[in-house]
Amino acid sequence: MCGIVGVTGSDPALPFLLDGLSRLEYRGYDSSGVALVDSDRVWVRRRAGKLAELTGAVGDAPRATAGIGHTRWATHGGPTEHNAHPHTDCTGALALVHNGIIENHLELGDELVSAGHELRSETDSEVLAHLIEAGMAGGAGLADATRAALARVEGSFAVAVVHAANPEVIVAGRRSSPLVAGRADGSGFVASDIPALLAATREVYVLDDDQIVEVGPGTLRVTTLDGTEVSPVRRRVEGDVETAEKGGYPDFMLKEIHEQPRAVRETLRGRTKGDRLTLGELELSDQELRDVDKVFIVGCGTSFHAGMVARHAIEHWARLPTEIEVASEFRYRDPVLDAQSLVVGVSQSGESLDTMEACRFARSATNKAKVLVVCNVVDSSMAREADAVLYTRAGPERGVAATKTHVAQIVAMELLALRLAHVRGLLYPEEVARQVEALHSLPTLIDGVLARSEEICDAATSYVDTRDFFFLGRGVGYPVALEGALKLKEISYARAEAYPAGEMKHGPIALIEPGTVVVAVATRGRLHAKIMNNIDEVKARGATVVVVANEGDDAAANHADRVLWVPAVPRGAELFSPLVDVVALQLFAYAIAKARGCDVDQPRNLAKTVTVE
Ligand code: M6R
Repeated sequence: MCGIVGVTGSDPALPFLLDGLSRLEYRGYDSSGVALVDSDRVWVRRRAGKLAELTGAVGDAPRATAGIGHTRWATHGGPTEHNAHPHTDCTGALALVHNGIIENHLELGDELVSAGHELRSETDSEVLAHLIEAGMAGGAGLADATRAALARVEGSFAVAVVHAANPEVIVAGRRSSPLVAGRADGSGFVASDIPALLAATREVYVLDDDQIVEVGPGTLRVTTLDGTEVSPVRRRVEGDVETAEKGGYPDFMLKEIHEQPRAVRETLRGRTKGDRLTLGELELSDQELRDVDKVFIVGCGTSFHAGMVARHAIEHWARLPTEIEVASEFRYRDPVLDAQSLVVGVSQSGESLDTMEACRFARSATNKAKVLVVCNVVDSSMAREADAVLYTRAGPERGVAATKTHVAQIVAMELLALRLAHVRGLLYPEEVARQVEALHSLPTLIDGVLARSEEICDAATSYVDTRDFFFLGRGVGYPVALEGALKLKEISYARAEAYPAGEMKHGPIALIEPGTVVVAVATRGRLHAKIMNNIDEVKARGATVVVVANEGDDAAANHADRVLWVPAVPRGAELFSPLVDVVALQLFAYAIAKARGCDVDQPRNLAKTVTVE
């Protein structure tokens, strides 16, 4: 996720660009840059690091009335100055900023290099600048050349382009990645998100997929990629900047819960083609993956729970012995590690000290294990120190309670499990392709849960005054139960304990009394009948039972007092069910916390990233 901003008809343009970027920094902040259209050239300045690095480096900028800016969150190519945007074409007359992933950038890059273009970065984005350059060299205007270039892109994009030959115009377009355009008297704007425009205008238009906009001082023209003119949809904009950053949601947590279909899509993007899995940044060769004889997964909190789901996938598909350990405990026992061990460190931030130290311990000269880090923040400390990295692409997460990064972690590790199985020759290509297809159905299934938000939240509010909750699950439902309990604890401060459902009868069932609420993850799978028995056991002792069940599962409904309905994952893809089921429990916890008047974005006593032991 990156942030884009552009302005024309603003004298000078630079302050608006810097202010806009500061409002978009939440979308990524590993590097940034601006391009100003200065008579017959485009002046570009880029810097690695936070926006402050750029702000301190633009003292010699020319006075210009049009320009574009970008704050980056790297996906292809490290967060260095030469990978920062804007990217220029070979002539230096065109500058372009991009958010998204161009899946066919290698093919396009080869074609451009053969035609004599010089690509100077490791990004997927730069090819677009040269494609547009090629179109313009063939006689097309900026807008037509941009349309033609974007039509060739496979993947997602929001782009903005300026060219010295059209000094007052910004051409911008989008597919899947967000982009809005705005207009005021004598000026025009584009941005990834409304907050970047609010200081200048409330006349904002939202672009649809495969539309481009030509913005001039006070003018705005929207067309489809084939050039047909369309009337843009005006967006009603109310409230202050923070309200706008929340995108119409009352808090970041709810916004991020709703961003989960996108987080899954982005984490999959460009990494699967039929049975072929390309985990680009993995940096472990097939042979190294084949040499692995044992996997250890380490993480904390929600990341640990994602790792628990991954253990099931790695053992099932790749048939590798897999241990999972809370990171803060891992290095204080004597795990049996060697050069054939693969340690997977899971961390949203890539900075949690417990997980970082566990990874360091695994890679130490004594233990010699290979360390693969699954994390959401490009170039985080853990990513830099690891042998290999697999990035989740959930975008920055503002709520302290992890939601969208959790589902993205599970997706990334399920891909890893399939890749391990593939290189070890344990899954037929057709089976890999079938699982990959199921993975791609998940965003729609998660949307199915989100469509039921109101009924899930209504059900949850019946339990606002409940003191004790138990969360039960079996198989991959157990980590979902753990995560549901953690969400409820951390944001509503209710007491919530999670158990493997079959374990209750060995002790914890003594705590069940009338008024205790038991939430059971009871979606279809091979342990469905068994969890129904466990539900009956707690019900017989007076518990009120809420189940997460698949739509149409009347048997589950008959065992419960309330049902949180969720869509079923495709048959044979039960290992993916946590990605759907957990969303119901996030909403359940959210509704209770809100009804209790809690601050869900910044719960008491917690920090988003814990950098102490
Ligand atoms: O950044 P990390 O994933 O390493 O953070 C780990 C935990 O601190 C984190 O998941 C924590 O449990 C969240 N508050 C859960 O919502």
